[in-house]
Amino acid sequence: MRDLVLSRGLINGEWVEAIDGKQVEIVNPSTGAIITAVPDMGKEESEAAVIAAHTALQDWRKTTAKYRAGLMKKWFDLMVENADGLAKLLTSEQGKPYKEAYGEVMYGASFIEWFAEEAKRMYGDVIPAANPNNRYMTIKQPVGVVTAITPWNFPIAMITRKAAPALAAGCTVVIKPGEDTPLCALAMALLAEKAGIPKGVINVVTTSRPAEVGDVLCRHPLVRKVSFTGSTPVGKLILRQASETVKKVSLELGGNAPFIVFEDADIDKAVQGALISKYRNAGQTCVCTNRLYIHDAIYDQFLEKYTQAVSNLIIGDGLVDGTEIGPLINQKAIDKVAQLVRTAVEQGATLTLGGNISDVGQQFYQPTILTDVTEEMDIAHQELFGPVSTLFRFNDEDDVVRRANDTPFGLAAYFYTQDHARVWRMSEALEYGIVGINEGIISTEVAPFGGVKESGCGREGSKYGIEDYLEIKYLCHGI
Ligand code: SIN
Repeated sequence: MRDLVLSRGLINGEWVEAIDGKQVEIVNPSTGAIITAVPDMGKEESEAAVIAAHTALQDWRKTTAKYRAGLMKKWFDLMVENADGLAKLLTSEQGKPYKEAYGEVMYGASFIEWFAEEAKRMYGDVIPAANPNNRYMTIKQPVGVVTAITPWNFPIAMITRKAAPALAAGCTVVIKPGEDTPLCALAMALLAEKAGIPKGVINVVTTSRPAEVGDVLCRHPLVRKVSFTGSTPVGKLILRQASETVKKVSLELGGNAPFIVFEDADIDKAVQGALISKYRNAGQTCVCTNRLYIHDAIYDQFLEKYTQAVSNLIIGDGLVDGTEIGPLINQKAIDKVAQLVRTAVEQGATLTLGGNISDVGQQFYQPTILTDVTEEMDIAHQELFGPVSTLFRFNDEDDVVRRANDTPFGLAAYFYTQDHARVWRMSEALEYGIVGINEGIISTEVAPFGGVKESGCGREGSKYGIEDYLEIKYLCHGI
């Protein structure tokens, strides 16, 4: 892993310090140990990175899709070769268990492979002309310089989900990784460099001042597209900033995922689905289950099995074999989760399991279950981003659909039933971009990921994921 730990940013093919030499320390959330320090960059470095990306764009956009796909394939191969080192680095800076981190490396790599293949399928059209003296065509061209503002919860996959379609389309990128987790981004950029991706095509700006850097990356006139994964309030700010120069914007924002278990569900399957959907990455994913709606008829049975399964989860340092739940990312995250649980209990929820900081360490929160939760409580309307399950009761399909949809968010929803007619009714009625049907894990590079309502716009992955990085140009040929 040591050869993947880098302490400089990447601008125009140069591994650089911040102009004023300032650095920010990167801390392992499990142990509190400092892994290394990276440059604390600001406005000037961000502008330099955008200009570098714009300069590199002039040649990169003219390369063939086959050429770009070849380089991306090498990048993919290097990621797979270095999967163990990358996974250890990921666990060290982000905290998720090694097994999950390894899974994320392979998931992240899959976007590079997928979009390398998709690069060669960016077809235009020949359109039947409305006039005998004309011929109509469309071609697809890269949008231009893309800025990718990525979160700390998936420090590899959220980069490749943006950078891979951008590069495949012929765009160049400036990446601003999450403040807590820049090391995976730098390691990925190193592997891209080793794969032969030319200088300036990928740039990485590290910082502890996201607002200052984000202001440049979302407003600079040379940037033509912003792709962001993170919170809804920041997404709204980015949308406003990008609107000044009418950039394309993709936003993958917050969620409030319902997980609905009907009376006819396979309960063991539903327990396993809820467990993985809720407690993956210690509950720190945008698609994590946020509200469990359990039918009255099976509520007690589900709760007993679920409580048993959750209480068996092993909490600890992600680099220790067998760990299933790592730390939360930082103290602020711990404070937020602890406060949400406290308030829920004050408002009448019952603490069935957990509810405290773990003995393992200050940054670990016990896997927790709250029952008797109602929509009147604050916790029903917050994205938890922690290892806390909230259980609601229901006894009517229309009622649970109304309650599941009663949120400004619309990223992921899940439901368990064996009734095929209900599968279709529910799939159509849920106002979400992604629906898991008898399945708690929905992420894959081949399917479109994204939300509706205040959960964002645009789709990542799949055949749709490259479209946001392309412009359609209509050619009208007079003959
Ligand atoms: C996210 O939490 O933003 C991404 C989750 C995933 O890709 O599964």
